[in-house]
Formats: sequence, C-alpha cells, structure tokens
Amino acid sequence: MRQLIQHDTLHHFANPRAQRGTPIGERQRAVLSQEAMRAARDEIRTWPGYAPTPLVALNGLAKACDIARLDYKDEARRFGLNSFKALGGAYAVLRLLLQHLPPGVTSADLLAGRYREEASRITVCCATDGNHGRSVAWGAQQFGARCVIYLHPTVSQGREDAITQFGAEARRVPGNYDDSVRQAAVDAEANGWFVVSDTSYPGYMTVPRDVMQGYTVMVDEAVQQLPQPPTHCFVQGGVGGLAAAVLAQLWEAYGPDRPRVIVVEPDRAACLYESARAGSPTAVHGDLDTLMAGLACGEASLLAWEVLDEGIDDFLTVTDEAAVEAMKLLAQGIDGDSPLVAGESAVAGLAGLLIARQQPVLSQALGLDADSRVLLIGSEGATDEEVYRELVGRPSEEIEAEARQHA
Ligand SMILES: Cc1ncc(COP(=O)(O)O)c(C=O)c1O
Repeated sequence: MRQLIQHDTLHHFANPRAQRGTPIGERQRAVLSQEAMRAARDEIRTWPGYAPTPLVALNGLAKACDIARLDYKDEARRFGLNSFKALGGAYAVLRLLLQHLPPGVTSADLLAGRYREEASRITVCCATDGNHGRSVAWGAQQFGARCVIYLHPTVSQGREDAITQFGAEARRVPGNYDDSVRQAAVDAEANGWFVVSDTSYPGYMTVPRDVMQGYTVMVDEAVQQLPQPPTHCFVQGGVGGLAAAVLAQLWEAYGPDRPRVIVVEPDRAACLYESARAGSPTAVHGDLDTLMAGLACGEASLLAWEVLDEGIDDFLTVTDEAAVEAMKLLAQGIDGDSPLVAGESAVAGLAGLLIARQQPVLSQALGLDADSRVLLIGSEGATDEEVYRELVGRPSEEIEAEARQHA
C-alpha cells in the first residue's frame, strides 16, 4: 500500500449503538423523511442554475489505496456557491418566507419579483463560518428577504466578502462559532428577525430540519449516479447536519444493506466523536482552532444527533496537516485521475480513508479491503481562494484548467 498521507495520527471510536442490518428506524425518520426529501428535490430542481453536481470516479486513487472503487461527489460548483451548503440554507429561507407570506405564494413568484415588498419586510439572520451564511445570503437575495450574518473572528475576509456580495449585512462578534450562534439568536429575538441556523438547539428545530432536508437532495443525486451501491461512505462532521443527511438518505436508499457510514472530524473540533464516546451530545470547548473552518464546531446539532446516534458506525478524527495533504493529492490527480479543487473542509473524509488504508488494524476495524467501494462527499471547492492558494501552493483556476484539459 502506498503511503499517501504522512501525518497519520488518527483517533477511532467504533459506535457500539450503531444499528446495522436493519431498516432505518422511526427515530431517524422523525427527523428526515422521504416525503420531505421529495418536496425539497422538487422545489430545488426548479431554481435557476440547478444541475446535479458530478460524481467523479477516482480510479487512480482507488488503486493506490487498494480498494475497488472510489467515487467523489464534487460539490465545488453547487449553484456557483462552491459548496453543498447552497442546498440547505437557501431552501430553509424559502420555506420560512412561504410560511410568512400570503397562502399560495410560490418560489416562482418570488424569483419573478412578485411580493418583493412583503418579502423585504422579513429579515433572516444566522451565524456562520462561511458556507452556510453564503447560502442564506444567496437565498435571501434570490427570494427578496433582508439578511444579517454573524461571523466570529477567525472567519476570513474572503468568506465575509463572499457573503456581502449577495447584499447581506455582516456583523463580527467575539468568541467562536457557537458564540456567534448565540448572538444571532439574541438579536433575532430583540428585533423580530428569523434565525436560519444550520444547527438545532432546544426549542429550535424546524429550520435546521429544512436545512438538512435540503442536503438530502445531494445524497439522492449521488445514489442515482452511483453505478453500484457503496460499501462505505466517509463524510466530514461539523455540527453533524451533513452527516445526518448522508446517513439517512443512504439508509433509505439501500435499506438494511446500507453502507458503513464513517464521520471524520478535525482533532481540534471533534464534538461528534466526543458525543459518541459519551453516549450523548457533548460539547468541546476552546477556540476550535482548525484550518477546516466549516468543521470548527464545538456542539452537535441535537436534531442531527437523533439521526447519528444509532446510525453512524465509526467516528474518526484527523489533523489539519492530513487535510492539507489530502487537498494536494486531489489537486494533483493521482495516477491518471482528473485534478480536483477541494477546499480545506471537504477532505477530512478522504484523509480518514487514506490513513485507514495505511494502517492494517484500522482497515480491518472499519471493514475496508480490496473489494470496498467508497463514497466520499467532496463538500466544498475553493470557498476562500486565498486560503486555498496558501495551502495547496497553486491557484484553483490553474487546477481547474488542468481538469478541463484532462477531460
Ligand atoms: C464544506 C463543509 N463540509 C462539511 C461541513 C459540515 O457540515 P455540518 O456542520 O452540517 O456537520 C460544513 C459545514 O459548514 C462545510 O462547510
């Protein structure tokens, strides 16, 4: 086996509560349902610019790590926002607006500029480390609402600019992501605004459920694109919304034979890993200082946890250094693979897979072998060009140009 990742420190927790060989349960379906997935899919498909994102077969990398298949769901160009998050926040904004506008109003009305005045009297707000806020700001602009986004100090200027370009107001607040979540909630309460958060907390469940349901549309696309059912899926974890959507939709699609789903987090912000170890949602504190900005979350989403608790098979943590190595491997394109632009929050899953393949004991624990077919969720492209260039050493356009030549 080739050693593809040098920084191979990894922690693994096998979830003793994971239900395998059974259909999805009522506990998970109470959060994410097929009916709601179809509603989200039917809606999102009508939006201008919608197209399923590519599922890229990485045959060279699969061979290099000795597995049968490796498929990468590439979210680098979703709606021009460069991450899967475009599906969640914007969908939740729309659902919220439709609840507060006269009955019968549709997204087509709002996109055509009808009910602009009524919509503009509604303010949506949220905290973000970048991608969710961009989605909410974009959704608010498309559908005509006012938007205020809260950012903690480590969110880069590039990410702030990407949000304000959609007409949103950006507010900086001290502390970490979880502190900015609390500030958004306080200001919304004081001003009569609506919080569109990607994380749920006691008393706040409807909107984050819509956000996650938007993500399931991506997983449904992947299921339609996959030539064969995967045996494993490695997915990045922040508050757990993405992982919950991935797990629930794969479980619905494949039933008791669903793939083994493995959540991978930064070692400096591993709230899902710690929650799994403790057996209940458990916060991790501090400044959550990881390069993987989208995964810098210290508290699991309670709603996501309802899905993850008895479904995720394994929890892993990887280092920032391993993530950077994984970004470079994708940018380079291994053994004939197309080069791919993957942001720093998109590759923890790949890093986890490659490290596991380098460690026979871990491969065995995860049931990975030469027959494995692995699905990766490439959750973002270069969502901050400056950061991307600094980490990979080349601009993303150069890699995209190489990818076009390769095609
Ligand atoms: C690119 C990317 N991947 C993964 C995640 C993790 O999603 P979640 O917080 O729902 O676990 C995020 C969250 O912002 C993200 O931006």
